[in-house]
Amino acid sequence: MPATRCFVIGNPIRHSRSPVIHGHWLAEHGIDGSYERIQVAPEHVPAFLDRLRAGEFAGGNVTVPNKEVVMPLLDSVSDTARRIGAVNTLWVADGRLHGDNTDAYGFLAHLDASAPGWDGRVRSALVLGAGGAAKAVAHGLAARGLERIVIVNRGPERAIELAAAVGPAAEARPLAEAAALVGESGLIVNTTSLGMRGQPPLELDLAALVPGRIVYDIVYVPLETQLLAQARALGGVPVDGLGMLLHQAVPGFARWFGVRPAVTPALRALLEADLPRS
Ligand code: ATR
Repeated sequence: MPATRCFVIGNPIRHSRSPVIHGHWLAEHGIDGSYERIQVAPEHVPAFLDRLRAGEFAGGNVTVPNKEVVMPLLDSVSDTARRIGAVNTLWVADGRLHGDNTDAYGFLAHLDASAPGWDGRVRSALVLGAGGAAKAVAHGLAARGLERIVIVNRGPERAIELAAAVGPAAEARPLAEAAALVGESGLIVNTTSLGMRGQPPLELDLAALVPGRIVYDIVYVPLETQLLAQARALGGVPVDGLGMLLHQAVPGFARWFGVRPAVTPALRALLEADLPRS
């Protein structure tokens, strides 16, 4: 039997860390397969999907800027991906192309692992940002039945639109109110690129943070952002973004290679060693 080939397509693609994750799992399980970075510009996505449909690959991941581009070209799109408005995982079954979005799963799985039982304690979450990542986070939180999901964003229209899409638990508030909302939030999530290496800092004063509350930053370069350092100093529970990246890869690997892989300390250490030092 020929080796099972999988891919991640995006443009640019050289920075994707997904091959490190899937390569580790392939070796761990002794699977004869591959996972390749392939640069595909949006205009070449249809031709690439023809290769997928023709059987050259079992499936793969889709990253920026193709996550929305692929959607109308697929035979089926999961409800989750439709809600989030983006697909990050593709697979072929019976000659049909399927798409799902595993970002909400990855976000929640890492939260479950880092703060077990959190959803029994947290009633209200504060979500910073209203972009693609925020959609996955907010829909994921709604799926867990949170009573209140407050979304703040620099551009207020995007926050209003996302809150409306998420449903009655969600509401949009002005960004200027973020610090005042900290005290009443059991979970605070940064979904913006602020605080990432090379980006402006995220200026959120967590002074009102109640000890024991969770602060989750989906940024993972650096691993400990200023937001997480602040949370730690105030007795909060910091959750970093690397685990979300690792967990979102699990469902794809399970589909393509037929084995459900684990997010282990060894895998995490491998990725940490691969991250820029500063
Ligand atoms: P992603 O798909 O990674 O979430 P995105 O859709 O571009 O990326 O969203 C980026 C998020 O970071 C948005 O919430 C964006 O705010 P706007 O919707 O107002 O653009 C936020 N963001 C990026 N740079 C920002 C900055 N300098 N100040 C405040 N928010 C910023």
